[in-house]
Amino acid sequence: MTCRFRCGDACAHEVPNTSDNPYFGDILSGTFSRRGALRAGALGTLVATVGVAGAAVPAAADSGHGSASGHGYRDGLGFTPVAPNSADALTVAAGYVSSVVVRWGDPVLPDAPKFDFDRQTAAAQAKQFGYNCDFVTFFPLGRDRGLLWVNHEYTDENLMFRGWTSGDTVPLEQIRIGLAAHGGSIVEVERVGRTGQWKLVTHGRRRYNRRITAQTRMAFSGPAAGSALLKTAADKRGTTVYGTLNNCAGGTTPWQTVLTGEENWNQYFVGGNGVPEAQKTYLTRYGISTTTAIPSGNRRFDRVEERFDLARHPQEINRFGWIVEVDPFDPDSTPVKRTALGRFAHEAATTTLTQDGRVAVYMGDDGRFEYIYKFVSKDRYIPGFDRHNRDLLDEGTLYVATFTGDSPAAEIDGSGTLPKDGAFDGAGTWIPLVSGDKSFVQGMTAQEVLVYTRVAADKVGATKMDRPEDIERNPVNGAVYVALTNNTNRTAAQVDEVNPRTANRHGHILEIVERKNDAGATSFGWSLPLVCGDPADPSTYFGGYDKTKVSPISCPDNVTFDAQGNLWISTDGNALGKNDGLFAMPLAGSERGHVRQFLTVPFGAETCGPLITGDQLSVFVAVQHPGEITGATPDNPSSHWPDGGAAQPRPSVAVAWHKQGKKIGS
Ligand code: FEO
Ligand code: CA
Ligand code: CA
Repeated sequence: MTCRFRCGDACAHEVPNTSDNPYFGDILSGTFSRRGALRAGALGTLVATVGVAGAAVPAAADSGHGSASGHGYRDGLGFTPVAPNSADALTVAAGYVSSVVVRWGDPVLPDAPKFDFDRQTAAAQAKQFGYNCDFVTFFPLGRDRGLLWVNHEYTDENLMFRGWTSGDTVPLEQIRIGLAAHGGSIVEVERVGRTGQWKLVTHGRRRYNRRITAQTRMAFSGPAAGSALLKTAADKRGTTVYGTLNNCAGGTTPWQTVLTGEENWNQYFVGGNGVPEAQKTYLTRYGISTTTAIPSGNRRFDRVEERFDLARHPQEINRFGWIVEVDPFDPDSTPVKRTALGRFAHEAATTTLTQDGRVAVYMGDDGRFEYIYKFVSKDRYIPGFDRHNRDLLDEGTLYVATFTGDSPAAEIDGSGTLPKDGAFDGAGTWIPLVSGDKSFVQGMTAQEVLVYTRVAADKVGATKMDRPEDIERNPVNGAVYVALTNNTNRTAAQVDEVNPRTANRHGHILEIVERKNDAGATSFGWSLPLVCGDPADPSTYFGGYDKTKVSPISCPDNVTFDAQGNLWISTDGNALGKNDGLFAMPLAGSERGHVRQFLTVPFGAETCGPLITGDQLSVFVAVQHPGEITGATPDNPSSHWPDGGAAQPRPSVAVAWHKQGKKIGS
């Protein structure tokens, strides 16, 4: 059911990436040719330059980005792991407690009607907290108040409406509710007493509170704004668009705005058969059907807004697939789709500063065999100069990653067995695609590179990855961590050292150490500190730690860090058959690889948006799609979380804290 509603059954369809980009095992074994030959030369040079810096570098990193850097980690983890379970509950480690902060349907705007499951309206939903919360970020307003931004990735219509059958036949009001339940929410929260607990502010003016939906007016900016590729009958200038869709992960900028990624936006359109022939190849590359068949999970937004019918408005789809920037402190501001960051299935957008003060944004394209990207701004961030900083993401260079391994291809056999040098590791490079109006891709203009970024990345030989989800830079050691969630389609012929398992069901974590630990670098070393699954499964690797002492972990999705630089990982789709959860893993020292499960989410849910507050007293998690299992309906719910009893499940943001006020994970 998750597959149907979140990504339009992407896994049941052909893999959209049919490019002949090498799986880099091909490069090492010398079995590829044509333009790849040039690239092999480049990669060979790079290996010589960078060496194998990726393996176990963190403690030696000289980042200047954090206090513990260069001195190894203090392992601050001291909790007893939560056992794998199938409970319909949020279960936290002993000594910790949790509570729900905000649920689907809770008031966001002060005049929001009270949530009534059986009498929901689009007007009410547009003022209430949306469905399926994902990315969470927090802006403190002093010590005891704050703003939460939360993405609303998608809707589960068959859990939201009794008797729902398909978008083809449902009342139009249900479709409008769906549009209003997408997007994001900004809500004011307050601390409870002096604890790590936070609750929704439900009184007073709440002047920042805001709902953003699939119908909110937004602007385009950057090099593709105003491009012929973005113009439609309703927007002849190509500068204005309504709504944001399938907002998955995101990021927070140094100038205190939100970046939110449009991920599986391709599933909301119909009429791909009716677009001009020349456009069909691009639809296919983005996983959009060009046949007359409408997938059964399609919400049929076109029944209330004709722009979702590509046969009538073929370019409307080019207006989705972007990173959107939202100013949470100005409820009247217009969200901006930043075209310089490219267009794909955006999972995350994590910002950091380069050593010379420019802004780097790391981004994953969450699809099987898709790529990892980085944007680096042209200009520097100037603290406090908001008017300058606000435009930083409009001009810069967009890169895509290539990886190569340092072990012989014959030693990467798809089983997950470590090669003889003891590590899946190697080197990589960021290949520039476009910089302002300058394209680096033969045969494509800068605007084409930005609108059809996947096609551009194919042409430069980017490395096909096992579904790049969240990607974040560790503020303590400066390394970058990528959750590669899974890819059951990878065959034995397609394994390489950075995606080393065939039929990768459980995913892995990739660590990237950029040259001189500079986010502005174009070369890096990499290694895999965690190859997920059941620790008893010989294909798994837990950073060299004793596997009899770790928690099983499957399908890493979102990552974050605590003040010690320990990696926290949330999961989506635990292929070991138990509930998803939140895990912590030290990255250096004798505890490296000691994965411990900190919490589990209720039955049918995934864990999203983990966020540890700056004071380390609270961890927020988004509990997305509780009760979402095949066959569940409002008359036969599989979860009653969070309200209990006979209540319907409600996607919610929760917070966990220690009873005695200890720091999270300690
Ligand atoms: Fe929406 Fe890639 O998870
Ligand atoms: Ca190796
Ligand atoms: Ca995700």
